[in-house]
Amino acid sequence: MKIAVCVSGGGTNLQAIIDKIGSGEIHNTEIAVVISNNKNAYALERAAKAGIEGVCISPRDYETRDEFNKAFLEKLDSYNVDLVVLAGFLVVIPPEMIRKYVNRIINIHPSLIPSFCGTGYYGLKVHEGALARGVKVTGATCHFVDEGTDTGPIILQKAVEVLDDDTPETLQRRVMEQAEWIIMPRAIDLIARNRIEVTDGKVKILEA
Ligand code: GAR
Repeated sequence: MKIAVCVSGGGTNLQAIIDKIGSGEIHNTEIAVVISNNKNAYALERAAKAGIEGVCISPRDYETRDEFNKAFLEKLDSYNVDLVVLAGFLVVIPPEMIRKYVNRIINIHPSLIPSFCGTGYYGLKVHEGALARGVKVTGATCHFVDEGTDTGPIILQKAVEVLDDDTPETLQRRVMEQAEWIIMPRAIDLIARNRIEVTDGKVKILEA
């Protein structure tokens, strides 16, 4: 399976995917391209170090959103990938891309959806919200992307304990280590091995 990984920042989820392809935990998968909207994203350096092609495409370089959306879709199409992986990608995915890649785009979100998700909840803001509400358990969700924000079929979730002295930063790190870096690679492997069925907006994981 050929995948594109879309990133905006540090790229620790990208690194987890690279590492688990290397170790064989993700089967039958090759990263064809890493796409960033931010040319300074450390994720692009991680791609370069792993010998993976990196490209930058930003809405800022286009006069209108429609022009960006068109260019982004053309760029993605040119790699002929089977799956698009959003690994901390902070740009809204063009609706025409979502319609073209139905159940072929997955996202990692740093909470247990439907908590702390939707418009405005991304990155540290998700963990700030969890701490402000005083939840005792949070986690991460890997899901298919549909036309809503964080509303697509849920593939995997993993819970993570919140500690009394957590800051948004310490909680973010624990959610990454104990959930994101585990479930995103696992979801990619399940898709690569054809172990996932989507019916009526719900995911069924088939026996190995
Ligand atoms: C991750 O925590 C990811 O779950 C989050 O951004 C971070 C990216 O980190 N994504 C979202 O909030 C999407 N709504 P990374 O660049 O180190 O992988």
